[in-house]
Amino acid sequence: MKMVETVLCCVCWLILGLWSSIFVSPAPLDNRDHLHTAEESIGKFWHVSDLHLDPTYHLTDDHTKVCFSSKGFPAKSPGFFGDFMCDSPYQLIQSAFQHMKDVDQQPTFMIWTGDSPPHVPAKELSTEIVIDIISNMTHTIQEFFPNLQVFPALGNHDYWPQDQLPVSTNTIYQAVAELWKPWLTTEALSTLSTGGFYSQIVKPNLRLISLNTILYYSPNHATENMTDPAGQFEWLEGTLDTSQQANEKVYIIAHVPVGYLPFARDITAVREHFNERLVRIFRKYSNVIAGHFYGHTHRDSIMVLLDEQGNAVNSLFVAPAVTPIMGALESQSNNPGFRLYQYDSSDYNLLDIWQYYLNLTEANEEKKPDWKLEYIMTKYFNIKDIQPKSLYELAQRFEKPQSKEFQQYFNNFIVSYDNSIVCEGFCKANQVCSIQFLDHDSYSACIKRADTQLVWLLQTTYQREQKQTHGVIY
Ligand SMILES: *[C@@H]1O[C@H](CO)[C@@H](O)[C@H](O)[C@H]1NC(C)=O
Ligand SMILES: *[C@@H]1O[C@H](CO)[C@@H](O)[C@H](O)[C@H]1NC(C)=O
Ligand SMILES: *[C@@H]1O[C@H](CO)[C@@H](O)[C@H](O)[C@H]1NC(C)=O
Ligand SMILES: [Zn+2]
Ligand SMILES: [Zn+2]
Repeated sequence: MKMVETVLCCVCWLILGLWSSIFVSPAPLDNRDHLHTAEESIGKFWHVSDLHLDPTYHLTDDHTKVCFSSKGFPAKSPGFFGDFMCDSPYQLIQSAFQHMKDVDQQPTFMIWTGDSPPHVPAKELSTEIVIDIISNMTHTIQEFFPNLQVFPALGNHDYWPQDQLPVSTNTIYQAVAELWKPWLTTEALSTLSTGGFYSQIVKPNLRLISLNTILYYSPNHATENMTDPAGQFEWLEGTLDTSQQANEKVYIIAHVPVGYLPFARDITAVREHFNERLVRIFRKYSNVIAGHFYGHTHRDSIMVLLDEQGNAVNSLFVAPAVTPIMGALESQSNNPGFRLYQYDSSDYNLLDIWQYYLNLTEANEEKKPDWKLEYIMTKYFNIKDIQPKSLYELAQRFEKPQSKEFQQYFNNFIVSYDNSIVCEGFCKANQVCSIQFLDHDSYSACIKRADTQLVWLLQTTYQREQKQTHGVIY
């Protein structure tokens, strides 16, 4: 059985190789060289995150009964492709993969940063249901992309009960290791089934590290008092060290991101002491790491890792979700999105992002999923590429008062959910500080600077208003 699989796999890689050489080679006589180099030097890969399939989604007159994931709250404006109070109907997920397939055949792999089950109370799910849903999503991806290699990372919802991912082997780690056999090596499957993480060579000299950052996530009680859950820190440092010696480049993928949450004040996505340790490791190996790719917040955001001297050393990207769900207490959500990254095939440095989205309101109205390109990062912000220096320069532009580019960034943050929402004052301070400062000391200093400035602004505005209204206090 093993032998057959290995042989089959070799055959499909051979066919894939032939196909890609067919795609690359035919070029008109005149500009053959030009085309040849352009095509060969740019590599592409997909990134999807937070699919959150809700199999209970269905259209019905009673809006409180459209989906279990609305938790009894009424759906807003339910349609065939979903609702902002609900997780993804299967049709929405299918339409996303269909569009990826239609729009670009060239990407050579996909990263998938977790969270397949819906946001429902624990009693509505079970270990078996969670595995069923991850299995459904795995097979759905394989149906759409039979020849594409996919690198998954586990999310906090990819376990039952949610967030409680253990530090040793269990039914779910074993089940995903079985499901993801077609994509991963024996070595990767072995650490996946014991700790929920792995590393694997993607292309010559390019290694992907898929971290289980749920081991560091604060709601995970299983890892509460541990210093190195599942030995992942030691393994990570060892893997990065080996990569450094072998002259490899590394892409880090994980579900829960490192750093501070952009929509909150002073809250790290993982536990604070784990965050500090991750930042230390990423700084130490920043010359090996060519990019970080995360999910979990459901929003589109960037971060730039600075070293102790303040030099920009790593680019980090958080991809928005496919699910459009929002919390009952939230005032804004995100449209469904997925993205494409472009990289330089000679050194795996990142070049650009093509972000796609579905205007969910429009799709439901038209009864047609018209996925569109939302933005091309370098064009949208007029930057050279998406490497650390360029992102840092952009972050500096965001800081300026009334920065038009920051407003554009915020529109993308919520995936064009509502371009009339403005983010200023404390909202903007939280965003801007979280982009540039990932460790406690530098983040706190940024927040302090921003607040001092905001209080000063508020005071002067207040004084001016008082003068204008002849001292009348209202
Ligand atoms: C996944 O689930 C959907 C809806 O619940 C179902 O229609 C579909 O057939 C399933 N697909 C696979 C591959 O299991
Ligand atoms: C962690 O330590 C605290 C305080 O010592 C204790 O109350 C708690 O039960 C511990 N948690 C675990 C999972 O061991
Ligand atoms: C999305 O579609 C709705 C309904 O057609 C429209 O009002 C809204 O402006 C669209 N949003 C964007 C960002 O295009
Ligand atoms: Zn999620
Ligand atoms: Zn999550």
